Order: sequence, then structure tokens, then C-alpha cells
Amino acid sequence: MTAVRLHHVGIAVPDLAAAARVYREALGLPPGVPEHVERDAVAVLVVPAGGVLLELLQPLDDRGPVARFLARRGPGVHHVAFAVPDVTAALERARAAGVTPIDEAPRPGAHGWRVAFLHPRDLHGVLVELVEDPGA
Ligand code: CO
Repeated sequence: MTAVRLHHVGIAVPDLAAAARVYREALGLPPGVPEHVERDAVAVLVVPAGGVLLELLQPLDDRGPVARFLARRGPGVHHVAFAVPDVTAALERARAAGVTPIDEAPRPGAHGWRVAFLHPRDLHGVLVELVEDPGA
């Protein structure tokens, strides 16, 4: 009955242009246009990689969640995002299963998506993002 599917992988990087260049040159990923998500204090570059997306995330300051991740763990996979038809319902389902939401309610993400994050401690160390993407 599940309609969930992998939507994108978020990768924390210190330098968006350098990361985009090496992913493009080494893997043949297409170029893209960065977007600022002020609420999360990140510059975001989303590029298609087959049926899913890669989301490169560079902190805009040293206080946001991606900046803290980079300081603590260095560059790398930051989160895994799943597309869901209804992020509110998906959030409630996760809560009912005992998973702690980071976002109590869905909120705007990049590209006009509605998103909510779930705590990695309840998901075996993986920060999970639920995404309602009208274009997916
Ligand atoms: Co994401």
C-alpha cells in the first residue's frame, strides 16, 4: 500500500560550485542553478541523477543545521528524502510508529516542495526528509 519512493539524496558540501563541478566532470551529472533556502541557511543545487535527484547543500552561515553537520562530521551524505503523496499524513504515520519528527508540521522546502524531517536517532542514524513534490 506504500506510495513512498526515494526522491533525493542530500549531500553537505563546503563549496557548492566546487562540488557541482566535480560531480559534473566525474559523473556526468547535468549543471543546475543554485537556490537559497534562507530558513535552513543553505544554498541548494538540485540535479537529476537518473530517477532520483542529488541535492548539494552549502551552508550560508556557520549556525544552520548543515553548517553544524559539516563542522561535526565533514562533507558527506546529510539526508535521504522520500517522496510521499501527502506529507502531513506521512508525518503522522511516522509519529504513530514512534519516530520523532524534527518538524512538528510540514514546511516549505526548496523548489516549492512541502517537507518535514524525521530524527535520525529513530531511523538508525539516517536523517530522513519527507517530500511532497507536485512535480514528482
Ligand atoms: Co532534501
